[in-house]
This record gives sequence, C-alpha cells and structure tokens, in this order.
Amino acid sequence: MSTAILGMQWGDEGKGKITHLLAKKAEMVVRFNGGPNAGHTVIDRGVKFGTHQIPAGAFYPGVQCILASGMVIDMSVLRAEYETLTGHLGQSPQMFISENAHLILPYHPMLEELEGSGAHIGTTRRGIGPAYRDKAARVGIRVGDLRHPSKLRDRLNQRIDLLRQTWPKASEITALSADRLAGDLLNIAQPFLESIGDAASVIRTALRQDQRVLFEGAQGALLDLDFGTYPYVTSSSTTFAGLSNATGVTATETIDSIGVVKAYTTRVGEGHFPTELSGKIENRLRERGGEFGVTTGRPRRCGWLDLVALKHAATLNRLTGLAITKLDVLSGMEEIKVCRAYRIGERKIVRFPLGEEELAHCEPIYETLACWKEEIQTARTLDALPSAAHNYVDHISQVLEVPLTMVSVGPAPEETIAIGFDRS
Ligand code: IMP
Repeated sequence: MSTAILGMQWGDEGKGKITHLLAKKAEMVVRFNGGPNAGHTVIDRGVKFGTHQIPAGAFYPGVQCILASGMVIDMSVLRAEYETLTGHLGQSPQMFISENAHLILPYHPMLEELEGSGAHIGTTRRGIGPAYRDKAARVGIRVGDLRHPSKLRDRLNQRIDLLRQTWPKASEITALSADRLAGDLLNIAQPFLESIGDAASVIRTALRQDQRVLFEGAQGALLDLDFGTYPYVTSSSTTFAGLSNATGVTATETIDSIGVVKAYTTRVGEGHFPTELSGKIENRLRERGGEFGVTTGRPRRCGWLDLVALKHAATLNRLTGLAITKLDVLSGMEEIKVCRAYRIGERKIVRFPLGEEELAHCEPIYETLACWKEEIQTARTLDALPSAAHNYVDHISQVLEVPLTMVSVGPAPEETIAIGFDRS
C-alpha cells in the first residue's frame, strides 16, 4: 500500500521522523512540493540530520528517491545534502528528478529581499515565492533545461535581462551573468544530469507494480497556498489534493493519507495564530520541544492544540490515519488545553475561517484536559501511557474522526508507539 505523509498544522509537525520510519519499508519515496524552505529532522543510526531538499528515503540505499514536478529545487542545497548522505551511507542515494520541477536561482532570494515579502510574510528567505511566481508567469527555468545547455543560457539571459529592466539600481541583480550562472548550475547538477526525466511516469509505473511508494509532504495544511491562512502561507499546495497535480498521479484513492499532528501547535513567520501562548507556558513548550526552525534557526511561536484548525486540515486531506508527535513534551505540564471553538464577538464558530480578517478576531474557546507528570519516552504501547496521556491522544482521534496510526514519544526512531502496523 502506498502512503502520503502530510503536515496538519503550520509545518514542523515532525514529518521527518515519521517519513524516515516508514521509508524503511518503502521502495520509492517521493517529495512533491516546496523546496529548501522545508527542514525535516531525521535521526539515522544515531546521527541527526536536517534535510531540506532530499526525501527521507535517501537514508535507505535501496530506496528510489523522486523529486516530483511540484517542487522547486535549489541545486546547491541538493548537491550538499547528496554529498553528506553519500558520506554517511558509504554510497550515493538513488535519485530521480522531474524535468518539470523548477529551479530556485540566486536571484529568487534576492527578489524576496528587494520586494520585502521576506520580512512581510516572515518567509524562510529561500526564494520559494519568487521561484513559484516565475513558474506561474512562465518565465521559470526548469530542471529539464539543464540537459540543453545552450537553451539554458538563452533562457537565463532573457530572464536576467528582464530583471535588470525591473531593478536597474540593484547591484546584486545587475551583477548577474547568465553564462556564469549556467556554468555553475551545470557543474553543481553534474551528478544528477543522467537522472532527470519524466518522474510522473516513473511513479505511475511503481504504483502499477504495487510497489510501496511513500509521498513526503512538506510544510503543512495551514500553509497551503489555497486553503491555508493566506497571505501568510507558502507558495505550493501542501495537501493531499495537491499531491495529484504535483506528481502527475491520478489514482489517489489507492493511497493512504497519514496526517502528522504535533501534540501542541507551533508556527514560524507572521500570520494569525488563535491559540498562541506567551510567557511561561510558551517558553516551556519551546525549550522542552526544541522549537527552533531547522532551516532558519528562528524560535517558533508556540500554543495549545487547535482542534478547529485541525478539523479543517483533516477534512482537506481525506485522512486515513493520524500520527501524533512530541507527546512527551507535554509531560509535567500543570495544565493542558485544547481549542474546540472560536468566539468572534458574541458569535461562536466551530468552522476554521479562511479569511484573514475573521481569523484575526477569533478568540479560542478551550477545553481543559487532565495532565500527567510521568515521563513517557519508554512507552511502546498506548496502554503503557499514563491514562491522561492515553486519553489526550484518543480525544484528538475522536474529535477528528481519524484513527491513530502512531504516537511519537521522543525524537529517536524507537521512541514510537506503532498502532496497527509493524515498525520492525
Ligand atoms: P516560504 O515558504 O519560505 O515562502 O515561507 C512562507 C511561510 O511558510 C512562512 O511563514 C514560513 O515560516 C513558512 N514555512 C515555509 N516552510 C516551512 C516549513 O517547512 N516549516 C514551517 N514553516 C514553514
């Protein structure tokens, strides 16, 4: 059976650990959206990695790793990760890159700074928005262009000419050279040049042959370009619905969809966050949960679990299972709350509002749940958890009407409660 692993909040749910665990039994792992804005923490044989471009399947030498057409790829980041993993594994990961995926080029992060979107949205400043914008405006450079060097130079020349006209006074833009850029790109991408092609057909063949394919989502449902908290979102589709378009696979009814939910909520960057905390409780969650961005090192904003937002995310993603992460971070809390509805003035709502204005006025209505004092990192079954911790995860599953598949009780792969699947 093939499976998609999808973030249900504002990213940083712990998808890296879950994907790494499941990738062990997969034959193919496909990353389908985003770029090096993602930072997936993976602990492989005791060594901690923060991966940004490369799918978690790369940690298992036999697994084919696909970078699908919905991604934007920074070749320098990819090459550095590829080299690091080759050293760690003693052999190169098996990679295949969609010719349709777009390249993030040095001018994309520059545009974020020049236009101010980096600061306004609080982006990761990796050039994600400008790269997807170039794609939509049909002036982007695609991975497939790397196989046609003279065409690549022509396209880069045209794009840089246009940028110079728009930003005549920006020295970083006027200094760009298409020839130099093309030379650098071809050099950096050299190990991948033979592995660029029609990724959609490679994925479809694997699915037809009943191979176990894992689809690795980046970011989370609330950062989705269409259904997230616009404009404070990323520039790609982060949901199950986006997976078809981003991979070229239509038979999604045969793919399980596991939603990854952190036991509380975090957000980096700007944007409304109804259950955001401040002071002692927020600091405790941040310190105990290590809530600092893998990509940017920024402290994450922390708050209580928001079941209204999660219900919206679960509906969007046709979930077949839930993976709850970082439950251990809540051990020893003096109180635990979850948001069940919002109040806007006199009005109570139970639906997650998509409009920025409405969300800005949402006051959370909380339910207080029992807390537990015990450390839980050694629990390997739900019954081994203190009853309050067991009730907490059951409650989430009941409200979202999605069965539990996994509960993570610590960062290491073995610190996991597996429900209904074999973790060996
Ligand atoms: P961008 O994707 O760099 O354009 O950033 C847009 C918004 O998405 C910002 O609020 C970022 O902090 C957030 N974001 C992007 N990628 C991630 C991620 O992997 N985890 C958490 N937040 C992210």
